[in-house]
Amino acid sequence: MELHVLKERQLGKRDPMIYGHFIEHFHRQIYGGVYDPGNPLSDEDGFRTDVLEAMRKIKVPVLRWPGGCFVSSYHWKNAVGSNRKPMFDKAWRVEDPNTFGTDEYIKLCRKIGCQPYICTNAGTGTAEEMSDWVEYCNLPCEGEFAKWRIENGYEEPHGVRYWSIGNENYGSWEIGAKTAGEWGHLVAESAKMIKHVDPTTELTAAALADINWNIHLLESSGQFLDWISIHEYWDGIHNDNNYADYEQVMAYTANLNTSIEKVRGLLAAMQLDKKIKIAFDEWNLRGWYHPNVHTVRQGVTKEEYLYPRDENDDNTKYTMADAVFTACFLNTCNRNCDIIGMANFAPIVNTRGCIYTYPEGIVLRSTYHVFDLYVNYLGDLVLDSFGSEPPQMAVKSKSGEEVTVDQLDILATAFGDREGYALAVVNKSADQAAKITVDLRGSGRAVRYYICGSSPESYNDAGHTGVSVLSEELGMFEEGMKITVGPHSVNVIQIGVE
Ligand code: AHR
Repeated sequence: MELHVLKERQLGKRDPMIYGHFIEHFHRQIYGGVYDPGNPLSDEDGFRTDVLEAMRKIKVPVLRWPGGCFVSSYHWKNAVGSNRKPMFDKAWRVEDPNTFGTDEYIKLCRKIGCQPYICTNAGTGTAEEMSDWVEYCNLPCEGEFAKWRIENGYEEPHGVRYWSIGNENYGSWEIGAKTAGEWGHLVAESAKMIKHVDPTTELTAAALADINWNIHLLESSGQFLDWISIHEYWDGIHNDNNYADYEQVMAYTANLNTSIEKVRGLLAAMQLDKKIKIAFDEWNLRGWYHPNVHTVRQGVTKEEYLYPRDENDDNTKYTMADAVFTACFLNTCNRNCDIIGMANFAPIVNTRGCIYTYPEGIVLRSTYHVFDLYVNYLGDLVLDSFGSEPPQMAVKSKSGEEVTVDQLDILATAFGDREGYALAVVNKSADQAAKITVDLRGSGRAVRYYICGSSPESYNDAGHTGVSVLSEELGMFEEGMKITVGPHSVNVIQIGVE
């Protein structure tokens, strides 16, 4: 296909936070994941150095914590200072030792150089408890909680700018779920107290692509909010772990924009689209597998509700399907960078994460390499591109429907701080290469960085590398250059490489 790109036609400058991540107190994400005191690979603070290094390489810009469903019955005060008691986590039905709390989380953020982003308990928690947390983190020294932080060894405020009121409080599964009316009221009251403590915080609140919920929320609290949070897991396999196959995953790419468009439309209708941005603060292709826990009848034995969670960590399941999907969604976020200011891959470590840990090392799953490509090789200015109709692909969805999707998902970018272009080209076809004729006013060396694996099923595991970032020199760029991308591949083509 032909592709025309004009630097003058900018869609916007994407916020680095669209390459953000999420980590929850769930299974081995924190304990036995990034935080593993006693492991020979951990540093003096108990953090796995190999995980930190992997996080730094993809320049994690922001890390949402501590949940997720976990947060809706979490009380932060039990996890700071010297008198910590283990708690029973009623969301996930396990004991949490509370040895990883706010101060450890801030330490983690500092070590990887990212912005902290705290999600508060709006399930069983109160506006007061939320704003006490802000006092603890952000006030220099006034009041009981800032003094407590200082007593705990942190003289300087933690300076947490991003705060979310609640997590998925609309859902029947969430502890302390709310009706739309209750939600609007609680968010307004919580936001009021938080802003009285620190008016420089940026606030978001749990929402979804639902008009009724959002109207209540925005009418009561729109004035306080800088963000609105939405979540999506396309392959909803929380209860059966029945992974969509490659073709079925490609069918999901027909629906990447749906919730964004709905929320954007409502924000515009309420004249809030210039004030409030979307934080897509949990997203992943696959829902996490945690059967018999978000049900009315809870599993009784650990075999029923706990041990199955290990199955999230079967590395052979994170293939080029996940990578291609991840790249397509990141393209969507880039294209919507006027309204999406943050997105958080859920989660970053273990479960469905892009980094898998085992006692002796880590595995970088296919999705990790997509973040590597996008963060380290793409530009920050998103450009409009146009051209001949991209080839179409007919695929069968998981529910058996025939769906037609574009074979290629292309995003054009340029760099705010230097000359040159970078094109993200995702080829969804399982077996067909694609040729693109590139028309843009550029010059210099062209290099293609890409991941593809030898098959759509390629994956990485301990001692097995099926997916990694490769590169190909394309020579000096000239108008009308023809570039071929392989099947099931994610490519970033830089033109004008320094
Ligand atoms: O399935 C994991 C959970 O997904 C997160 O805790 C929650 O926020 C979302 O529903």
